[in-house]
Amino acid sequence: MLRPCIRPESRRTLAHYDAHAESFWQGTRDHDVSQNLDALLDTLAGRRSPPFRILDFGCGPGRDLAELARRGHLPTGLDGASRFVKMARAHARCEVLHQDFLALDLPTEAFDGVFCNASLFHVPRADLPRVFAELHATLAARGVLFCSNPRGDDVEGFQGDRYGCFLQLEGWTELFVDAGFTLLSHYYRPANRPRAEQPWLAMVLGRG
Ligand SMILES: C[S@@+](CC[C@H](N)C(=O)[O-])C[C@H]1O[C@@H](n2cnc3c(N)ncnc32)[C@H](O)[C@@H]1O
Repeated sequence: MLRPCIRPESRRTLAHYDAHAESFWQGTRDHDVSQNLDALLDTLAGRRSPPFRILDFGCGPGRDLAELARRGHLPTGLDGASRFVKMARAHARCEVLHQDFLALDLPTEAFDGVFCNASLFHVPRADLPRVFAELHATLAARGVLFCSNPRGDDVEGFQGDRYGCFLQLEGWTELFVDAGFTLLSHYYRPANRPRAEQPWLAMVLGRG
């Protein structure tokens, strides 16, 4: 159930995704994010016992929820866009929480992993410490958080109708460490390109 949110960063961003839900699905359903899923699952394999309970934070229409279930894990989705929540439930047939990143209500120590693929950057920088603390609290001991975000030099604001916060490795790491996480590994995407042609930063973080 979506808690009411009056923040324009969420309201406008979610309205954009709702308005473009079908074209987003058609444009991203075949994206290969196996490198990112593997980064989370391989790290978890050394720390927790499968099957893993994974929260897909900003799951969109459910591509990665379906893949996690296909691999034998126990995914739960979370998204604020009501059309994505419906689509994700239909595509992945798992629980999908309808929540705003800025008004979360998460169970404590309920997940082995949190997968944030192209989603955390929608959180305004001032809210990141609180959101990271909530994600830390929803992870079990020795849990792992994965995130992939577009990089930028500490800038934030609306780009069209979507709010984004763009940091580099150092900026993200400082905030995660302050929330109690440890940086375990990172890489840039797409693979095998010069750094200037790698707009995405992927990070794997341990809970403590
Ligand atoms: C770029 S999409 C990524 C979707 C999916 N993880 C993927 O990799 O295809 C960002 C997702 O974050 C969700 N989102 C953005 N802002 C949000 C907010 N304030 N609360 C909840 N969900 C939000 C959007 O609805 C969308 O599903």
